[in-house]
Amino acid sequence: MDIQLTGAPLASLEADLLVLGVFQDEAFTPPLQALDNEWAGLLAGVTTEGSFKGKTYELEWLYPAPGKTKRVLLIGAGKRSAYDVRVARRLSAIGARQARNKRAGRVCVALPTTDSLDAAHVAQSVADGALTGLSDSDLYKDREQKFTVGVMQIWVPQADAAATEGLERGRKIASAVNFGRWLGDEPGNVMTPVRVAEESQKWAKECNLECQILGEDELRDAGMGSLLSVSQGSRQPARVVVLSYKGGDGGTTLGLVGKGVTFDTGGTSIKPAADMHYMKYDMCGAATVLSAIGAIAQLGARANVLAVAGLVENMPGGAATRPGDVVRAANGKTIEVINTDAEGRLVLADALDLARRRGADRLVDVATLTGAMKVALGDVTTGAVGNNEEWTAKLLSAAKSVGEYVWPMPLHSEYTDKIKSNIADMMNTGGRYGGALTAAAFLQHFVGDTPWVHLDIAGTAYTEKDFAWQMKGATGVMIRTLVKLGMGDG
Ligand code: BES
Ligand code: MN
Ligand code: ZN
Repeated sequence: MDIQLTGAPLASLEADLLVLGVFQDEAFTPPLQALDNEWAGLLAGVTTEGSFKGKTYELEWLYPAPGKTKRVLLIGAGKRSAYDVRVARRLSAIGARQARNKRAGRVCVALPTTDSLDAAHVAQSVADGALTGLSDSDLYKDREQKFTVGVMQIWVPQADAAATEGLERGRKIASAVNFGRWLGDEPGNVMTPVRVAEESQKWAKECNLECQILGEDELRDAGMGSLLSVSQGSRQPARVVVLSYKGGDGGTTLGLVGKGVTFDTGGTSIKPAADMHYMKYDMCGAATVLSAIGAIAQLGARANVLAVAGLVENMPGGAATRPGDVVRAANGKTIEVINTDAEGRLVLADALDLARRRGADRLVDVATLTGAMKVALGDVTTGAVGNNEEWTAKLLSAAKSVGEYVWPMPLHSEYTDKIKSNIADMMNTGGRYGGALTAAAFLQHFVGDTPWVHLDIAGTAYTEKDFAWQMKGATGVMIRTLVKLGMGDG
């Protein structure tokens, strides 16, 4: 899809579909009022005589439309006070998907700008929303007959340099988000650890990143007995991918660490069959960090960033880890594996340690780590646990500014007490309650005193239902947040 900016009067635009964002409970914004004047009050009629109120994501069609527009879609932007980049992205995604449904080859999207959302942010959000909204998870269907929207014009009050930059940012971020979602949506038989490593290599080339892939011999030599204990029951060999970007002169290095379990059967502690197919998404943490560092590089951040993806398949083969086995992590600590289904932390243990060895002095890990976090926050909000208030606050503020929901959870020494082992330095589970936090307490053993935030995306990495703005499947959650954080400008 070709995306352009325009600042021309709305009535002058030629389009198969014109998408207009309309606020709830207020008069038309000046550009909409100007259009309505040209169209002799047609739009006002829809809002006064019809049922359209402008409630968030509410739709109203006008067909045929007057002037040079074939069809108009009024879309509710909701209350001005709740309007932000998140809403703008979704409005644009809905508009783009509706354009595709109606086989509208030329679509123009005009969303409001406000005191808190300037033209650059609107341009970025509309480009991002449309490109991610049109990217679907039905990878193995015949998609030949799916209509392609050829051109999208993004309307802004002034198509200036700032708005153009916003549009370019949106394009790059969307391409990273779509890459991450694609990695997640590919099934476990395709997106194996080796395949993720290959795709990372291609992606690194595209984004001008340094890429190193560690094979099993290297992982063994590095002493990563914790990570390797997860893949030993599988025919698929483990990989660790390290991507690095050096855009800063000296200074700090941000380490992004992802859980990449390409399929999680639970291993010897096997999972029930119901919903096990969703465990192809258990590599979304890895997908997130690989995607984010790519966008950070493409945006030319003046910062140093490192991404480490721990890639394994968790299978119950004859060589699989048994409950009660003791393994040794690369940092020398010993772990009693009580439950082989608590494998993500075993992978992250060695991956976090590697990131520190490679010079990371700020850490964020991303993982579909616990069902407990999904129970706590649902599929709406990502849970965060950290060891440093300032660093956690930075991450929360990055998330807020890109419109992603993250909520902080506590990490007290009492959680660490629950994973004490009789035979080893720690156990990999901590009993029935507070499972998301005993998991975080486990990870803390591998970050030392480096400022660190753990993001548990078990609930948010994928959706089980379709939305008007996005098909069910991988969401790409936290990519935008990590990009914002990695740019070091927010
Ligand atoms: N990958 C799962 C967590 C998960 C659950 C992700 C649901 C997405 C949706 C993880 O490896 C796991 O199995 N965790 C266990 C830990 C338990 C055995 C301590 C869990 O949460 O049940
Ligand atoms: Mn598991
Ligand atoms: Zn898992």
